[in-house]
Amino acid sequence: MDKKVVLISGASRGIGAAIAIHLASLGYKVIGTARSEFKFDKPSDNLIPLKLDITCRESIKDCATKLKEQNLLPDILINNAGITSDQLFLRMKDDEWDNVLATNLTGTFNLTKAFIKNMIKNRYGRIINISSISGLMGNPGQVNYSSAKAGLSGFTKSLAKEVGSRNITVNSVAPGFIETDMTSFLDEGSKNTIIKDIPLNRLGSPEDVSELVAFLAGDESQYITGQTISIDGGLFMH
Ligand SMILES: NC(=O)c1ccc[n+]([C@@H]2O[C@H](COP(=O)([O-])OP(=O)(O)OC[C@H]3O[C@@H](n4cnc5c(N)ncnc54)[C@H](OP(=O)(O)O)[C@@H]3O)[C@@H](O)[C@H]2O)c1
Repeated sequence: MDKKVVLISGASRGIGAAIAIHLASLGYKVIGTARSEFKFDKPSDNLIPLKLDITCRESIKDCATKLKEQNLLPDILINNAGITSDQLFLRMKDDEWDNVLATNLTGTFNLTKAFIKNMIKNRYGRIINISSISGLMGNPGQVNYSSAKAGLSGFTKSLAKEVGSRNITVNSVAPGFIETDMTSFLDEGSKNTIIKDIPLNRLGSPEDVSELVAFLAGDESQYITGQTISIDGGLFMH
C-alpha cells in the first residue's frame, strides 16, 4: 500500500486517538489534531500530533498551507472532533447551542472545505464523519448535539452525490455509547440501565469504532458512499 495521508480531528483522546493509532499501525501517515497540545500514547513515525481548533477557519487555512508545503495534504479526512453541552431545551442557552453546532457541524464543513479540493485534483478521497445515534434516534437533553449530528447525515449524503464521480466517498459512522471522557459522567447505575437496552450487553470501546473506520478508510469499502453506519451494539435498529 502506498502511504496514504489521514487527517483526523479530535485525536488527543477517546475515539479519535484510537482511530489514529489503529490507522498508523496499518501503515497510514496520520495527522491528528486537538485544541490543546498533546502526545499520542503510542508514538510512532506515522503519527503527527497537531494543535488545531476546527472552529477557527484562519488556523485551518494556515494548517492547509503548511501541510501542502510538506506534501502532507490528506487523502482521507476523518471529522471526529465533537463536544457535548447537554441541557434540557427550555434551559438551553444560546452559547450551548452555538458552540455545539460550531464544533460538530460547522467544524466538519470547515475542515472538509479546506481539504476536498486536493482530493478532487487527485481523483481519490475518503471523508468519514463521526456522527452519533443521538442524531438518528434523538436524546433528551441533546437537542443541540442531535441536531448537529443529524445535520451530518444530510452533509454526508449531499456531498457524496457531488463528489462520487471524482472517486471520493463520504460516509458517517454513528456510535452508540462508547467508553470515553464524553461518557465518563455516567455512574454505574446509569450505565447498567443503558446496557439493558443494548442487545450486545455492553458499552462500546473506542477500538470497536476504529475497526469500522479503518474499513471505511480502506480500499475494501470503495463502493460504499453516502451512508451513516451505526456501531452501537444494536441499541438503535432502523
Ligand atoms: N463517546 C461516545 O459515547 C460517543 C457516542 C457517539 C458519538 N461520539 C462522537 O465521537 C467523536 C469523539 O468522541 P469522544 O467520545 O472520543 O470524545 P472525547 O473523548 O471528549 O474527545 C474529543 C476530542 O475532540 C477534540 N476537540 C474538541 N473540540 C475540538 C475542536 N474545536 N477542534 C479540535 N479538536 C477538538 C478534543 O481535544 P481538545 O479538547 O484538546 O480539543 C478530543 O481530542 C465525537 O464527534 C462524538 O460526538 C461519541
